[in-house]
Amino acid sequence: MVLLQSVSRAKRPGWLLPALSLALQQNAGGAQQLSGERGLSTATAMREQQSGKRVASLLGAGAALLASASLLWPDRAEAKKELGILPGSKPAQPAPSSAPVKPAAPEPAAKSAGLGKDDKGRPIYSSEEVAKHKTLKDRVWVTFKDGVYDITEFVEMHPGGASKILMAAGGSVEPFWALYQQHRKAEVLNILEPYRIGTLEGGAAAAAAAAAAAKDPYASDPARHPALIARSMRPYNGETPGSLLAAAPITPNDIFFTRNHLPVPHLDAEAFRLRVEGEGTRALEFSLEELKTRFRKHSVTATVQCTGNRRNEMSAVKPVKGLEWDQGAIGTAVWSGVRLRDVLRALGSRGLGSRVWRPPAPALTLCCSPVPRLPAAMRLLALRAAGLSEEDPLVKHIIFEGADKDATTGDVYGASIPVSKALAADGDVLLAYEMNGQPLSKDHGFPLRVIVPGVTGARSVKWLNRIVASQYESGSHWQQRDYKSFCPSVDWDSVEWGSAPAIQEPPVTSAITEPAPGTPLSAADGEITIRGYAWSGGGRGIVRVDVSTDGGRSWAPARLLPPPPGAPPPGSYSGAWAWTLWETTVPLPKPSADGSLPPAVELVCKAVDASYNSQPDGVAGIWNLRGVVNNAWHRVKLDLEP
Ligand code: MTE
Repeated sequence: MVLLQSVSRAKRPGWLLPALSLALQQNAGGAQQLSGERGLSTATAMREQQSGKRVASLLGAGAALLASASLLWPDRAEAKKELGILPGSKPAQPAPSSAPVKPAAPEPAAKSAGLGKDDKGRPIYSSEEVAKHKTLKDRVWVTFKDGVYDITEFVEMHPGGASKILMAAGGSVEPFWALYQQHRKAEVLNILEPYRIGTLEGGAAAAAAAAAAAKDPYASDPARHPALIARSMRPYNGETPGSLLAAAPITPNDIFFTRNHLPVPHLDAEAFRLRVEGEGTRALEFSLEELKTRFRKHSVTATVQCTGNRRNEMSAVKPVKGLEWDQGAIGTAVWSGVRLRDVLRALGSRGLGSRVWRPPAPALTLCCSPVPRLPAAMRLLALRAAGLSEEDPLVKHIIFEGADKDATTGDVYGASIPVSKALAADGDVLLAYEMNGQPLSKDHGFPLRVIVPGVTGARSVKWLNRIVASQYESGSHWQQRDYKSFCPSVDWDSVEWGSAPAIQEPPVTSAITEPAPGTPLSAADGEITIRGYAWSGGGRGIVRVDVSTDGGRSWAPARLLPPPPGAPPPGSYSGAWAWTLWETTVPLPKPSADGSLPPAVELVCKAVDASYNSQPDGVAGIWNLRGVVNNAWHRVKLDLEP
């Protein structure tokens, strides 16, 4: 609260945010209950994933989504096109054709005559009968509401692989679709309908019971601030409106954008444990209290930006798959917690005392491959005596796992960063338990999250409960597929996910937050005040923001505002983790001699960072199928009235 007061700037007319911030901050917090369970994958499993031995696991949530979607869109390409949030993956066995696949005539009656006929003359089947159809040999049946569907012919064409679609065999698809309810559209069901072979016994009543049984994993999600603009409800994704976004250098917690891929897990701070392990290291476990008391508290002022921020502009050029973020999937906070570096250094040392080592482990485990020969092992032992270091031959990446879980696959959200960033003294990577002086809220990762300053938001894993020091990147869908960019010509059929690295430091960007598009302008006012933000990855400060009112033909530099508390001044070459807010007041076009006025003005902004990187003028040249890292000049069109 003190912090927010210190940043208030009462002289500015539109500067109402500090007061709002205080109100919002006072509402923050609240007890958290229930503990989350999740499956743990081992470092060995990750190696297997990396080498392609566990393709199905790599498919992750995207595969599950495609599994669901493919039940809805029998054609593989169609299924890919219709997906909104997660892209999915290549089939284990490719579909034979991209043309719409007509379901083969089902043969249910050979084995199952049904219990009678429904009012349309279709056989009625009991749920016990449906449950017998779980294999290709017995034919694969699923139910949706009161319909029974024979999807045998489709199983092998399934983009996520047969094993995924078979998870729903013999029962309802609804638990699988509960996670991705945006697929429950009329056109989707129309595509499923040709596979229908009959009706479930009990009709609507049985269907209602089945639906109730399919527990809504989002039912216990927290309440959200009404000012947030929801881009999806299940999972919840909401962005900060432009008028509030750049109104204060620190974004109030309750209106900080939220990006969730899965239901919010409810974790008990008392029961919470962070597990830290690695290849050839001992495993550590820390309670929240142990983290707070055994390591020094640090605060870092950092901007978090979603990789898909401003995706709506990419969609305007050519459709992309993903949430239609405007410019508000970004925010800046003062994050407090312990340095990841300090915790990782404990990995290789004996310094913390036996109380925190659970279970006791040998000083060096040599069972993980590659097995070093003895001299190498001795060197490693000596190296690790001082803690995990960048020279460690077995550790190249630090993997983070969250407690949020895809109920259909068991996959948890995961991401990784290079060990060099994790261990850098000036990398400032935090295991944060506070946001703007408050405990993290449920949506922002309570009780613990990673904050990787200067890196795209996807790597700042929320609800953090496991860290793995590894030779390999995270095998998660979000590391291997979701947050990568490709040539504009690459589409969903030609994409080779492994050909591009996972995005870490995003490029320099800027956006106009006020006025909003469509705000009526009166030439009689003579001038207009424009506000916005600018930010660059890697801690590169902003040296300049240029603004144009004529679509980019002429430019004038904007005034860079003082940095948020704790952030270095604009233009700093490194460590500038926070955005730079800017504003400028510029003249509006005057009527010409004959009294005519241009019908509209096009405001444009572009920023330059400390490495003199700037922004491309248009979206087309950086368009990519996932709609990520859009840093084109930001344009706002406004009608001009006399
Ligand atoms: N961590 C977990 N466990 N689950 C998630 O869905 N989303 C990531 C990241 N960390 C995510 C996560 C993405 S894509 C972004 S942009 C940031 O969290 C958003 O953080 P916020 O919701 O606190 O703004």
